[in-house]
Amino acid sequence: MDPTSYDVLIIGGGLAGIRAAIAVAETNPRLKIGMVSKVYPMRSHTVSAEGGAAAVLSKDDSYDTHAFDTIKGSDYLADQDVVEAFVREAPLEVVQMEHWGCPWSRNADGTVAVRPFGGMTTWRTVFAADKSGFHMLHTVFQTSLKYDQIHRHDEAFVTKLLVENSRCVGVTAIDVRSGQMYAITAKATILATGGLGRIYAFTTNGNICTGDGMALAYRAGVPLKDMEMVQFHPTGLPFTGILITEAVRGEGGYLLNNQGERFLKRYVPNKMELGPRDIISRAMTTEFEEGRGFEGPHGKYMHLDVRHLGEATIDRRLPFMRELGREFVGIDIVKDPIPVRPVMHYMMGGVDADISGATLMKGLYAAGECANVGLNGANRLGSNSLSECLVFGAAAGRAAAEQVGSLAAAGANPIEAMLKDETKRVEGGFLDKKGGDERIAEIREDMQHSMDEGAGVYRTKEGLTELTRRLDGFRERFERIKIDDSSRVFNTELTAAIELGFMLDCAVAVAHSALAREESRGAHARRDFPERNDEKYLKHTIAHHTEAGPRLEYRDVTLGKFEPKARAY
Ligand code: FUM
Repeated sequence: MDPTSYDVLIIGGGLAGIRAAIAVAETNPRLKIGMVSKVYPMRSHTVSAEGGAAAVLSKDDSYDTHAFDTIKGSDYLADQDVVEAFVREAPLEVVQMEHWGCPWSRNADGTVAVRPFGGMTTWRTVFAADKSGFHMLHTVFQTSLKYDQIHRHDEAFVTKLLVENSRCVGVTAIDVRSGQMYAITAKATILATGGLGRIYAFTTNGNICTGDGMALAYRAGVPLKDMEMVQFHPTGLPFTGILITEAVRGEGGYLLNNQGERFLKRYVPNKMELGPRDIISRAMTTEFEEGRGFEGPHGKYMHLDVRHLGEATIDRRLPFMRELGREFVGIDIVKDPIPVRPVMHYMMGGVDADISGATLMKGLYAAGECANVGLNGANRLGSNSLSECLVFGAAAGRAAAEQVGSLAAAGANPIEAMLKDETKRVEGGFLDKKGGDERIAEIREDMQHSMDEGAGVYRTKEGLTELTRRLDGFRERFERIKIDDSSRVFNTELTAAIELGFMLDCAVAVAHSALAREESRGAHARRDFPERNDEKYLKHTIAHHTEAGPRLEYRDVTLGKFEPKARAY
């Protein structure tokens, strides 16, 4: 096998990427599959997912209920055809994971256990204690090893999509170990690079979540969809942002303000701690603003109390949370409440893709958090994401495998020329650049804090306008960055610089999309436009990249049997 030329190339080695690779191999075992990841796949961000994966598994549940919960949760911005397909496929994927050896937590009778999750009307989240992502990622990774046709490029950093005659024909990448740049060609390419949480300062996302796939597609001419829809999870640990899983509330944990009051009775009286994330994050912010939060060295926080659950339940269902409390806060959650506050967690927006993951560019697909296939709308429900990675990773893999038969391989000459150009851009623009006085870390931190301030739980026209102005300034500063490390081997300063460029592009798309949407819907809460406006904004924001900044268009949401209604819980 020529290691730099494939039928299908997958960028990203997390749950969606590996699931896609397996789907390609199963659809057509003769296809050559490449999988590129900037980290070793088991270090992909999926590994940090905690709570579980949603699917209809019981006869007391129904596809319609899961679909309705998802659509209501999305504040009616989800495409209903996509949601309907998702709820039907999710159980098949969960059972498939069981057959591949995923160690789902079980009931005493041996059946697979489910737990409640926010915004879901019934218990339908399967889980592996509170390390669901870790176990799911291991399961698909180990399964992928049996396919000899999947060839991995671990620790290879993709810098650009190669486009020939409006068709994606592969990527350029840096082999991080040697520093060498090379081209990897493919008849079809699937982006599965995860989220962009690191554009914010306070996030649950790991350092690798820098929006690479979104920026790669955007720069290549593929639009980004609904980038204003950024999810804040109610329970991050102050300072580190480490996620305290919603499963803590699913298992019966209480959120308490500084009066010892379960304040959610004023905001989501019928759901309380199991309300959706957008509403609970706003409720906490309001309580802070009205003086009912605790004050700590890292700002305001609430208490998440599980003491009443008892040590045995905590150790069986939430052992990792006990470890996190001990290691990162110095508390024992069996005896002490957990300090928590809203934290940027997930990106509903992403590469504009259809139900099969196909983008507007021939030969390019997207799946998982980097994609927006229309499932999550303005607010994703907790535990739909791991299922989404499986369902839409598999769908993109199947679609790509089916399409490659009709596509010729890319010609060698344009690829060589494109590689030469990109090598010149990376070396000239970063490694061999003379002069420059701006530090990567300083621009990155300024961007992150500006995003926290300007595009947080609540937004305003003034705040977003100021954010766009600041982002323009950071982009100018980015042109003057200085890199000290000019070596080739494991040059993480170079990859950090390229990541910063990706993040700035994504941040600009978020800020402009948010400024233009003059309504409040799901996670996008405008203080100056507090109501949802279905007349004008029952539409997806489509952001196209231009040198002057994003050009925005709108596309109607696909409605179905669930009529938009006021959203109360
Ligand atoms: O709270 C959590 O465990 C997060 C789950 C999710 O984002 O789906």
